[in-house]
Amino acid sequence: MTRLALLHSTIRKEEKLIIESSIKKGVEVNLIDLREIILDPVRFEVNFDLALERSVSTVKGNYAISFFESLGVPVLNSLKVATICQDKFLTSMCLLKAGVPTPKFALAFDLEKAIEAVDYLGGFPVIIKPPLGSWGRLLAKINDLDALEAIFEHKDLLGGPQHKALYMQEYVEKNGHDIRAFVIGPEVICAVYRISEHWITNTARGAKTENCLLSDELVEIAGQAAQAVGGGLLALDIFETEDGFKVNEVNHTMEFRNSEGPTGVSISSAIVDYCLRYLKENRFKNNS
Ligand SMILES: Nc1ncnc2c1ncn2[C@@H]1O[C@H](COP(=O)(O)OP(=O)(O)OP(=O)(O)O)[C@@H](O)[C@H]1O
Ligand SMILES: [Mg+2]
Repeated sequence: MTRLALLHSTIRKEEKLIIESSIKKGVEVNLIDLREIILDPVRFEVNFDLALERSVSTVKGNYAISFFESLGVPVLNSLKVATICQDKFLTSMCLLKAGVPTPKFALAFDLEKAIEAVDYLGGFPVIIKPPLGSWGRLLAKINDLDALEAIFEHKDLLGGPQHKALYMQEYVEKNGHDIRAFVIGPEVICAVYRISEHWITNTARGAKTENCLLSDELVEIAGQAAQAVGGGLLALDIFETEDGFKVNEVNHTMEFRNSEGPTGVSISSAIVDYCLRYLKENRFKNNS
């Protein structure tokens, strides 16, 4: 019997769905609450075949991935993929390098340079986001120079070290929705529209989800974007623009509770299947 470790902090609906899917497939699930373990390589007893990292906390997740990878345990997603996806700047760089269409972006540490970057981005409005952030928190739509100066000063004086990096993007007109596409290993399994009257369309901020049919173009761009960051268990935020699709960002510990219903696809089941497949392929590699 395959033994899967679920690395978690708060157990959300998603983790419950993954546990249910595992049990249905006869996979033994070992729940590891990262808040309750000591990452001690000498005393930690590994009694599972693969670890699935599902921590709400990025810091805990990162250390846990590093720890288990260094003990020789396969972890999904890998540290390489998690490191890229948790950082919007690194993600943008990977997408650009791989030729995946993505909104124009820039990073600056200084107000004068940020003002210069606005020009390169095509003028106001621009979006400023914390490079390491989620759930649409601390996103700012900057409509003019006054707003840019105010946000800069607030971040400079009140923010932590992370807020010294101003990650900026061109503002993309997206007609009240963006697309979230789920890519599991090599396969784009489903996608939803996230619809909101607000320009921030996170479901954590109240956006509604509807099934989005997978066109060939969407499958191609989502597949390319997933490969660009290393591939794995990923959710992509994609804008549908007049110039075609643009991949905004890639998420590596995605929430999907609002997407299984509209798509009719069991994302949790696909995650567990991929864990099993990954393990089989890795075992084969290790034995060859
Ligand atoms: N450049 C942009 N132009 C227009 N809308 C944007 C832009 N960037 C972000 N948005 C809107 O804000 C939402 C949240 O932005 P983004 O996905 O980049 O950050 P996040 O949701 O905080 O990160 P995560 O998905 O990791 O939780 C997007 O889904 C989109 O609706
Ligand atoms: Mg997002």
